[in-house]
Amino acid sequence: MPNSLRSRQRSNSLGRGARGAGRGTTKAFPVSLSHVCRPLPRRHKNLVIVGAQWGDEGKGKIIDVLSEDADILVRYQGGHNAGHTVIVDGHEFIFHLIPSGLLHKHKVGLIGNGVVVDPEALINEMDRLQARGVDVRRAVKLSDQAHLIFPYHKRLDIVEEAGRTGRIGTTGRGIGPCYVDKIARSGIRVADLCDAEEFPIKLRACVEEKNRLLKALYDEPPFSYDELLARYSAYGKRLAPHVVNGVRFLRDAMAQGKRILFEGAQGTLLDIDHGTYPYVTSSNATAGGACTGAGVAPTAIDRVIGVVKAYTTRVGEGPFPTEFPPVLMERIRAKGKEFGATTGRPRRCGWFDALIARHAVWVNGCDAVAVTKLDVLDEMDTVQICVGYRDGKKTIHDFPSNMRLLSRCQPVYESLPGWRTPTGDAAAFDELPPAAQRYLKRLEALLEVPICLISTGSKREQAFKIGRW
Ligand code: IMP
Repeated sequence: MPNSLRSRQRSNSLGRGARGAGRGTTKAFPVSLSHVCRPLPRRHKNLVIVGAQWGDEGKGKIIDVLSEDADILVRYQGGHNAGHTVIVDGHEFIFHLIPSGLLHKHKVGLIGNGVVVDPEALINEMDRLQARGVDVRRAVKLSDQAHLIFPYHKRLDIVEEAGRTGRIGTTGRGIGPCYVDKIARSGIRVADLCDAEEFPIKLRACVEEKNRLLKALYDEPPFSYDELLARYSAYGKRLAPHVVNGVRFLRDAMAQGKRILFEGAQGTLLDIDHGTYPYVTSSNATAGGACTGAGVAPTAIDRVIGVVKAYTTRVGEGPFPTEFPPVLMERIRAKGKEFGATTGRPRRCGWFDALIARHAVWVNGCDAVAVTKLDVLDEMDTVQICVGYRDGKKTIHDFPSNMRLLSRCQPVYESLPGWRTPTGDAAAFDELPPAAQRYLKRLEALLEVPICLISTGSKREQAFKIGRW
């Protein structure tokens, strides 16, 4: 800071503030400070998109549609456990770490500080994107505060999961163990990787500690420090041109009036605090995670949109009150292609659960919801919505935190007539069959927020907005 500015600031804040206070006025801060701390212009619209169920709600498609209006796309939590599918011109692309709006031209994607990054996975994904014609060097930015996943995290993920009595069903990508190191303050960040003196010191300490742990608790073979140092140093060189100070990057973008879309991975029910703990992932998948995971203030966020499927799915273990019986499960799984984009695991499927979706609307402060995969229900004679849980003689209307209680709850259903008509060509709400319109209006009423977008197929054009979002 130049001296002239520093002395002006000092005399302003002490001199005038003190004089003002002496005269009994409440104006403690000088007006001229505004040139030092300029407010951001508020004409832009920054949007958070979050999953409002157990992940796999079809966020990739919604982000792809809504990112048309954004300049910067940000991932703020999770890692390559996520798989966001986008289909453009019949070609499928699955994003794991890179924000999924980048297939649009001239967008820039930031992988925020809240993401845990496997550099090998990131480099592979960048190479695939480059092959699709995206100028990756320009378009992909990586926060220097993001934590790195190492092979020992993956090994720990796998052996810990195998040793658990109540399995979580993790993706085995090292996500949880990497977040454990972050919270234990022993993780290695992108900034460390870019520091040729510091990185070997930190890595040696981590490898030695993890080798001791793996041997003592699981009798697992050790990792070679030399091999990891060589491999990760090469990753560091490759990633260096993408590394930015994420806070400064977003601050500058907002100052230029650029619009930011924060892209949540997984879903609210997988959130470490607000999900079906312990059957969750290890990050804050909810809208609040966008602030901590990208380095922006809550005041920078203008809109939150929750994404729900027209029914419910989940991968991995844990209670799922509206889960279908086997025959219906197979039918919907086949029609909805309900297999994990990251692991290929079959997803568990069930009826729409309004309790969990409303819980998500509240936790995220959703302004609206987008409904995906309506077409998957096209052939049903009746459709059901869970509007409460029955526990013995008691009916519960709020999503419970006690998983033992949730496991024994029976869903209370409202039945509505099915529409038995294809919806894939609808381009507006009025073009949907009346029974489908009734179903959606009922969801709106139960969730207490408007529906802003409906998707009726996997293609980009099989989606339409309702109102101005
Ligand atoms: P982890 O994130 O690999 O630790 O897995 C924890 C739980 O989150 C498991 O039940 C996973 O199946 C689930 N999970 C993680 N990522 C996703 C996702 O992108 N979609 C759906 N489920 C996920």
